[in-house]
Amino acid sequence: MKKILNFGSLNMDFVYAVAHTVRGGETEASLGLQVFPGGKGLNQSIAAARAGLSVFHAGLVGEDGGLLLDTLKADGVDTRFVGTVPGRSGHTIIQVDENAQNAILLFGGANRAVTPAYADEVLAHFSAGDIVLLQNEISAVPHILRRAAEAGLSVWFNPSPMDDGARACDLSLVSVFLLNEIEGEQLTGTAEPGAILDRMAEKYPQAAVVLTLGAAGAWYAKAGARAFCPAEKAEAVDTTAAGDTFTGYFLRGMLDGRTPEEALRLAARASAIAVSRPGASPSIPRFSEVERGL
Ligand code: RIB
Repeated sequence: MKKILNFGSLNMDFVYAVAHTVRGGETEASLGLQVFPGGKGLNQSIAAARAGLSVFHAGLVGEDGGLLLDTLKADGVDTRFVGTVPGRSGHTIIQVDENAQNAILLFGGANRAVTPAYADEVLAHFSAGDIVLLQNEISAVPHILRRAAEAGLSVWFNPSPMDDGARACDLSLVSVFLLNEIEGEQLTGTAEPGAILDRMAEKYPQAAVVLTLGAAGAWYAKAGARAFCPAEKAEAVDTTAAGDTFTGYFLRGMLDGRTPEEALRLAARASAIAVSRPGASPSIPRFSEVERGL
């Protein structure tokens, strides 16, 4: 039985409703504040768990991280590899405007205390054939990615947010890239989806690529084969965690042995539900709800 390890961030999201995203030098009164558990790592673990998968989450919280741990546990995520360190957990300040667009300011906190030694301790519990899911909101990502691949794990990498840490990774070790259009452009220097997939195939011929394009749908590409799924229509309230939801459900679809088209469709349906609700992890639907809508 393949084990799934998600080594990723845990954040408290402070979500402010705004008329428009505040600009430099401007002061704007917000229209409301809600606080949710989030972080790309936590959201993806919850998405995978609500999709019906067994997931181990690894990462670090600060002394204030009780709610983040409880949130994972409430969805049945195995938290034995989540440690607590002195200081604050990660948090974000998220502005969501009237068009449901968000702007996110990230404070890494405990997420940035992940060390190569801690990562090695966790990875020692996993072996060839297992899956590691990674985003780019924790420290030591290049190390984790390399050691996981050396141990024969399948590396699913969502290089978000893209920065020098993600660029320092040996991306030739990645099995599956999970990209949105911005990350796709940052990795390839081109904005056109077909060209992004072409360049990714040239640079990383070993990898599958999932490219999500928001309302313009999503692509899967591997070894010359391509699949496309249009986005589902949704009344968007808050797009936060839509990509994370997509990832968890796409993983479930592929592990079920569905075709890439079917896995994309499952993921697109789950994301459409997520964007119709406020917040990050609370917006992620359960499998029964997603299946009903298919
Ligand atoms: O992908 C959404 C997540 O990104 C939010 O929950 C926030 O914590 C940021 O990390």
